[in-house]
Amino acid sequence: MATAGKVIKCKAAVAWEPDKPLVIEEIEVEPPLENEVRIKVVATSLCQSDLYFLFKDINKDIFPIVLGHEAAGIVESVGKGVTEFQPGDKVIPLFLPQCRECRLCKHPKTNLCEKKTPGQSGNLKDSKFTCKGQKLHQFMGTSTFSEYTVMNQNSVAKIDPAAPLDKVCLIGCGISTGFGAAINAAKVEPGSTCAVFGLGAIGLAAVMGCKAAGAKRIIAVDVNPDKFEKAKIFGATDFVNPKDHSKPISQVLMEMTSGGVDFALECVGNVEVMLSALEACAPGWGVSVIVGYTNLHDISIRPLKLLTGRTWKGTLFGGFKSKDGVSEMVKSYLDKKVKLDEFITHNMPLDQINDAIELLRNGKCIRTVLNVSPQ
Ligand SMILES: NC(=O)c1ccc[n+]([C@@H]2O[C@H](COP(=O)([O-])OP(=O)(O)OC[C@H]3O[C@@H](n4cnc5c(N)ncnc54)[C@H](O)[C@@H]3O)[C@@H](O)[C@H]2O)c1
Ligand SMILES: [Zn+2]
Ligand SMILES: [Zn+2]
Repeated sequence: MATAGKVIKCKAAVAWEPDKPLVIEEIEVEPPLENEVRIKVVATSLCQSDLYFLFKDINKDIFPIVLGHEAAGIVESVGKGVTEFQPGDKVIPLFLPQCRECRLCKHPKTNLCEKKTPGQSGNLKDSKFTCKGQKLHQFMGTSTFSEYTVMNQNSVAKIDPAAPLDKVCLIGCGISTGFGAAINAAKVEPGSTCAVFGLGAIGLAAVMGCKAAGAKRIIAVDVNPDKFEKAKIFGATDFVNPKDHSKPISQVLMEMTSGGVDFALECVGNVEVMLSALEACAPGWGVSVIVGYTNLHDISIRPLKLLTGRTWKGTLFGGFKSKDGVSEMVKSYLDKKVKLDEFITHNMPLDQINDAIELLRNGKCIRTVLNVSPQ
């Protein structure tokens, strides 16, 4: 590649300040150092977690920043010591690394990894991005709202060359997260009754996971009834809008199921809903999984809710060891075992990213895929 070893000037959507529209800017992206890979981002989608850091958990220290973590692209060049990747490989950037060597990677019970990609250090000095002479933070190490990004090879998954990048980008976060939450974290069982709270891409992927695991009844819960039609496509059997009931939603579900659901997945990011999901579980064996992200509030709970045998857990990236899980999910899509196209409601160029943000913020889309660079 003619660009190998050189700084690349390219387009990126920069968040200069919290709670403000992103600005399309020309940025400079450094070449990859040892064990690093520079990726041409072909397609990226937006996830609610991008908006959380832009609008909700406002920490001025992370700005200016290039957001984005659900993407797919092509390796442009590699640094010294990289043997797993070559220019031209199709890849998915990973916000959760998998180095395969650390204590956590070797532990079968977790998908966490002790390593970080340079942009995850929080130290601006490690960032590969500069704009108008100023260093930019890299969000979750990935920063996919840019035509190019640089990551450690531990944080990149090689995928099947047949994979359409404008579809499989969704595997970089939302679909793996929701599907894995049902399969790996909840460990949904055949014949069971499940409830999924929140029917964005994460919740719909959780519905798809419950169905794949053989759940008999899947109750889809959302305060936006526009989401129910999609939930049906992914396998939901019952639809509940908490706003239609005067009783607490956990009680509504308890009554609908004569004693509580076997598995409940919270895919909203709201501590009250997390509590409702736990309370909707059957005493004795019900399992509730927190998938939605928030770090703003504590939850308080009566110990009896757990003493009576419910299990409460949480999961990042659906419990998948990231490199392995992403490659597997891409294969499953190509083998038509998981759906992706049905999650995509909008396609736009990167330049229209602020429109895409408003769609997600207002619950008007499931996923918008932004075309970042031509393949
Ligand atoms: N754990 C992880 O690794 C991980 C990964 C990705 C995303 N997330 C988190 O998952 C959550 C969902 O992400 P998304 O992109 O699907 O978001 P989204 O905004 O598209 O979907 C959220 C859905 O929840 C619904 N909702 C809001 N309040 C509700 C309530 N009180 N009861 C029921 N439903 C309600 C909304 O109407 C919407 O349909 C976010 O919190 C996101 O940050 C977590
Ligand atoms: Zn995400
Ligand atoms: Zn590791």
